[in-house]
Amino acid sequence: MGKGQVYKPGRAPASMRGVIERLNDEGLGVLRAGKKEILVPHAAPGDEVEILKTRRKKRKVIALEFRVIKPSSLRTEPPCPYFGRCGGCLLQHIPYEEQVHWKAGKLSRHLGQNVEVMPSPKIFGHRNRIDVVISTSGIGFRRYGTWWEAVDITICPVFGEASSKVLKSLREFIEDFKLSEYDIKKNEGFLRYVVIREGKFTGELMVNLVTKEGKLPEEFPDYFPYATSVYWSVNRTESDVSYGDVERFWGQEFIREKLGDVVYLIHPNSFFQTNSYQAVNLVKKVAELVDGERVLDLYSGVGTFGVYLAKEGLEVEGVEINPFAVEMAKKNARLNNVNVAFRVGRDRNVGNLSNYDTVIVDPPRAGLHPKLIQKILKDTPETLIYVSCNPKTLAQDISALAGRYRLEFALGLDMFPHTPHVEAITLLRKFDV
Ligand SMILES: C[S@@+](CC[C@H](N)C(=O)[O-])C[C@H]1O[C@@H](n2cnc3c(N)ncnc32)[C@H](O)[C@@H]1O
Repeated sequence: MGKGQVYKPGRAPASMRGVIERLNDEGLGVLRAGKKEILVPHAAPGDEVEILKTRRKKRKVIALEFRVIKPSSLRTEPPCPYFGRCGGCLLQHIPYEEQVHWKAGKLSRHLGQNVEVMPSPKIFGHRNRIDVVISTSGIGFRRYGTWWEAVDITICPVFGEASSKVLKSLREFIEDFKLSEYDIKKNEGFLRYVVIREGKFTGELMVNLVTKEGKLPEEFPDYFPYATSVYWSVNRTESDVSYGDVERFWGQEFIREKLGDVVYLIHPNSFFQTNSYQAVNLVKKVAELVDGERVLDLYSGVGTFGVYLAKEGLEVEGVEINPFAVEMAKKNARLNNVNVAFRVGRDRNVGNLSNYDTVIVDPPRAGLHPKLIQKILKDTPETLIYVSCNPKTLAQDISALAGRYRLEFALGLDMFPHTPHVEAITLLRKFDV
């Protein structure tokens, strides 16, 4: 029996027992039960299971409780004590090589060709950011499948040792000042999230406490003397989000991360690729694939690709819808002494794409906007590098571009060990018709 599965005595009907045949794209075990398909989180292909409780979610049947009658030979012991309950990781019970193999299969199926996946250089301590819920049910991550309950944790192994230090200090602070944790169902309580971020290549640490409106004891930063940067943010809404308006900070305004020789600033309200060790490989691979001198970094975020490429001597422009990300990208360019024309803009309203030798697109999970696809087909830049975190929309967009673009190269990168997600880099080259 793998850790974390709920063991409940009692028998399910015969149709609710069977062998997990595979993992679906979301990393859930698939059990055929008569005509039904039951999706079983934290199960491994080959597990013989008995389903004890299910629920329906958008026409799917999901197992809420199950027991493993006979474990699959594929299983490994998950190192994290919270695995199986915590909603953070879904695949720690699958050996890492198998996870990578499974991700390669998923990507290959979507793209209709064999695609390799580069494993993450580290599979624990690799995440540079965790968003920890502070709630009346615990300080940790949401229990798998719930939005109201948190699994109490003292460490997150995918983030590493610093998580244990911060959570210990936080608990002392809460205890000393008798502060209240948030109850999401009642919208009561003061403390809502603590977001911990770490520059893995610089050792710099950021602690961002997100609260409801209220008074924070002024001793708060004293509890984190080892942190480079301590923030207090206020979420004035009822939305369950781990950011807010910055109220105050202590120490450095930003922490820094390095990818190769390039330094990036991280602010509580800015995005950064979450696995620094693999992000280096991502930017290096993108740099290798760029053709020509003039590059457009579309969906440029904080300038992760743009600044790196400018440092390699390329002439780069960046377009991004979020003004704060653009501000950060400009700061990153200045910090690295490079010139990049970052501007706020919308994907479909970019100028003439034929002005660039290479256009890099790294859109959100929904993929490219149909109007941008039309624009690419009209302007036909020579080379497109499409970076994607969603194989499904990547495949759809590649097929929408297939009238003018040939897929020349595809590689998966595992940015997110122990989760079902996989990042992909593809190179699309224009062909004449
Ligand atoms: C997957 S992230 C890419 C981040 C960036 N490449 C990086 O590594 O920092 C997608 C980015 O697209 C931006 N975005 C979303 N919709 C957009 C749109 N319609 N036009 C331009 N940018 C958009 C988001 O704000 C986000 O920064």
